Amino acid sequence: MTVILTPPLMTFQPYLDAVSKQINHTTYGEQPTELYEPIRYIMSLGGKRLRPLLTVLAAHLFTDDWRKALKPSVAVEVFHNFTLMHDDIMDQAPLRRGKPTVHEKWNANIAILSGDVMLVNAYELLLETAPQHLPRVIRRFNRTAAEVCEGQQWDMNFELRSDVTQDEYINMIRLKTSVLLGFAMELGAIIGGADDTQAQALYDAGVNMGLGFQLKDDILDVYGDPEKFGKQVGGDIIANKKTFLLIEALQQATGDTQQALNHWLSLPQGTYDTATKVAAVTDIYNQLGIDKIAEANAEAYFAKGFEALEKLPVPKDRKQPLLDFAAYLAGRES
Ligand code: IPE
Ligand code: IPE
Ligand code: MG
Ligand code: MG
Ligand code: MG
Repeated sequence: MTVILTPPLMTFQPYLDAVSKQINHTTYGEQPTELYEPIRYIMSLGGKRLRPLLTVLAAHLFTDDWRKALKPSVAVEVFHNFTLMHDDIMDQAPLRRGKPTVHEKWNANIAILSGDVMLVNAYELLLETAPQHLPRVIRRFNRTAAEVCEGQQWDMNFELRSDVTQDEYINMIRLKTSVLLGFAMELGAIIGGADDTQAQALYDAGVNMGLGFQLKDDILDVYGDPEKFGKQVGGDIIANKKTFLLIEALQQATGDTQQALNHWLSLPQGTYDTATKVAAVTDIYNQLGIDKIAEANAEAYFAKGFEALEKLPVPKDRKQPLLDFAAYLAGRES
């Protein structure tokens, strides 16, 4: 499918088109169909494809031949989709990109195994990196993949705790989400021939944008338009996810509000009406003005990433598509 984003400026659309075309041409395997069909399904649902886009945009900062980053960029997207397939099992999520999740459409075992083979597919695509960069790229990818698992485990551990701090939360989202955005940019930089300092600067910018991005995701999980968001709104509240919003509310609530919040968090799953809980907790967030604090924090991380990109010593015209894309991400609604 063709993905069209509606950004402030469209300068990155040709790169996104190239990424989409590359994804559409990617094959994963044939038999048994139960193993490979879910991969074609999730990959064809689109999504924003922001990680491969970051890879090619980062490569183009340093080389005109950014197309050599296309196949490795798809490795990052396939890996991301693998994490989503497994994440949706862990989060018991019914919807992804406006369609049933793989474990709902097929079953959890199929989602586990299809996900596993996607990780293998990701390595195969990564092998398309030029040989001189390959050991470094694989080492960095492996580190990143392990960190994503660490973040996902913290995320699940935190569901069971009510004393999670904002520092712990930031570290958790850095691991589960941000390092992959960082790696996507670093990968593009390495392929494009950047020096170590520049590759590190792009990684750091990606991590900061990733922190803003996950904060925004947590906000949209409560306040998003279900049509645009494509995921179940309120899923984080139902699961007692320790998002920035919930941690802030737990810290700020007093009196009856505090009691009500703790009451909702203490109810075992299956013993309450989920829509009532989502409405009640959202109401508490609104009373405390949590959405505005969360938005301000997300913007601050995006601004940090943005500043780092602006400071990069490469010509402005090479940077423009990346800067426009960063601006689009900061304002996303899906
Ligand atoms: C969803 O990522 C998982 C998070 C890290 C928040 P995206 O919001 O990039 O999902 P797609 O790929 O666009 O569907
Ligand atoms: C997921 O975070 C991050 C990874 C998939 C590693 P979320 O659980 O918030 O992502 P969504 O909201 O389901 O996309
Ligand atoms: Mg999750
Ligand atoms: Mg999830
Ligand atoms: Mg989420």
